[in-house]
Amino acid sequence: MENPMPWKSTTTHYGRVAILLHWLSALLLIGLFVAGLAAANTADPALQAAILRVHAPIGTLVLVLTLLRILWWVAFDRKPDHVAGQAAWQTAVSVWVHRGLYLGIVVMALSGIALMAMSGAPDILFGGVAGPLPAFETFTAYTIHSSMALLLEVLFVLHVAAALYHQFIRRDRLLARMGIGR
Ligand code: HEM
Ligand code: HEM
Repeated sequence: MENPMPWKSTTTHYGRVAILLHWLSALLLIGLFVAGLAAANTADPALQAAILRVHAPIGTLVLVLTLLRILWWVAFDRKPDHVAGQAAWQTAVSVWVHRGLYLGIVVMALSGIALMAMSGAPDILFGGVAGPLPAFETFTAYTIHSSMALLLEVLFVLHVAAALYHQFIRRDRLLARMGIGR
C-alpha cells in the first residue's frame, strides 16, 4: 500500500471507517442469516436457544453499526462519486439497492427486537426462566422478519453480482473502492 488509507472517503474511494463498517457488517450479516435459518429449522430446542442467545445480540450490534454508518456519512463523511462510465440506469439501480440494504437491515433488526419483546422469549433465553420457547412463527413480527430476510437476500445477491460484474467483466477494480486490492 503506497499511502495510508484515509479515515474519510475521497472522491474515488471509501475511507477506512466506511470500509471497516462495510466488511464487519457484511460478515456479521451472513452469520445472522445462517444462524436465523438454523434456529428456525432445528428440531432441538436447546440448540435453538443457544443460537438465539447469539443471534439476538449480534443482530442488535449490526443495527448499531448500521446506524453509526449512516450517522458517519450524514455528519462527517462524503460518498465517493458514482462509478464513471456506466449507464445511468446502473447508477440508479446501485443507489436503490444500497438504500434497500440499509433499510432492510434496520427493518430486520427492529422486527427481531419486536419479536423478542412480543413473544416473551428473553425471560427464557436470558432471564433463567424455565420453559419451552414460544412459537415464534405465530407472531406478526416473525412474518415481517422472515419476509424481510428474503428481500434482503435478493438485494444481497444483486449487490454481490454487481460487484463481481464490475470487478471481473468490466474490470474497473471496483472492489478497490471498498478497500480490497488497493
Ligand atoms: C450482507 C452483506 C452486504 C451488505 C449489507 C452491503 C452493503 C453495502 C452498501 C449499503 C454499500 C453502499 C455504500 C454507500 O451507501 O455508498 C456497499 C458498497 C459496496 N459493497 Fe457491499 N454489502 C455487503 C456485502 C458485500 C460483498 C460480499 C461484496 C463483494 C463481493 C461487496 C462489495 C461492495 C463494493 C465494492 C461496494 C462499493 C460500491 C461503490 O463503489 O459504489 N459488498 N455495500
Ligand atoms: C439485522 C440483522 C438480522 C438478520 C439478517 C436476521 C436474520 C434472521 C433469519 C434469516 C431468520 C430466520 C427467518 C425464517 O425462518 O424465515 C431469523 C429468525 C429470528 N431472528 Fe433474526 N435476524 C436479524 C436480527 C435479529 C434481532 C436483532 C433479533 C432479536 C433481538 C432477532 C431474533 C430472531 C428470532 C427470535 C428469530 C426466530 C428464530 C426461530 O424461529 O427459532 N433477529 N433471523
